Amino acid sequence: MSISFAGKQSVITPEGVFIIGTYDENGVPNAMNAAWGMQSDMGEITLMLSKHKTTENFEKTGAFTVAFGTVDTVVISDYFGVESGRKVNKIERAGCHVRRSENVDAPIIDEFPLTLECRVRSWDPGTGYLIGEIVASQADEAILTDGKIDLGKLRPIIFDPSFNVYREIGAPVGKAFSDGLKLK
Ligand SMILES: Cc1cc2nc3c(=O)[nH]c(=O)nc-3n(C[C@H](O)[C@H](O)[C@H](O)COP(=O)(O)O)c2cc1C
Repeated sequence: MSISFAGKQSVITPEGVFIIGTYDENGVPNAMNAAWGMQSDMGEITLMLSKHKTTENFEKTGAFTVAFGTVDTVVISDYFGVESGRKVNKIERAGCHVRRSENVDAPIIDEFPLTLECRVRSWDPGTGYLIGEIVASQADEAILTDGKIDLGKLRPIIFDPSFNVYREIGAPVGKAFSDGLKLK
């Protein structure tokens, strides 16, 4: 038997744990958590945002970073989503360390092992669609295997809106562009 849910109750999965890093006009770093985002082209990310300290920041700098929430950063990732940089320096409060990206005017948070450095390609405060050009990305050596980003080492998490929990992404279960060939 199939149970019907109303449209707004739909569970769309996976939803990411995207940590958006920005500087304000005084160079104070901030970070927020966003679940609604996706790759929208090669070298392009799209995020759906309400108005936040973060949006005020990248409106001025034209840049932001996106780090990925991981099993080791669950608490700080969630904190970045339940507190506003308008009230408190979240980076300091979380005990995080930041360095300035060499490629865009935005902070890289050392505690996160993988970070995209993005330039604002377009931002529409009406729809809330932020499109970023990924100029470069920084990865800790510890998450690489044969020079490639290894999700098994990164241990990224997703947001589960059904139970309001974070889940770890699991082990590989098949080979892309390959397993389906059996049925061709
Ligand atoms: C799990 C989770 C997912 C979130 N996803 C989004 C999102 O996709 N878009 C958004 O605008 N806000 C989202 N938020 C809310 C912001 O992270 C939150 O309002 C934050 O305080 C904004 O920070 P800022 O004011 O320092 O920029 C999310 C929060 C949590 C905890």
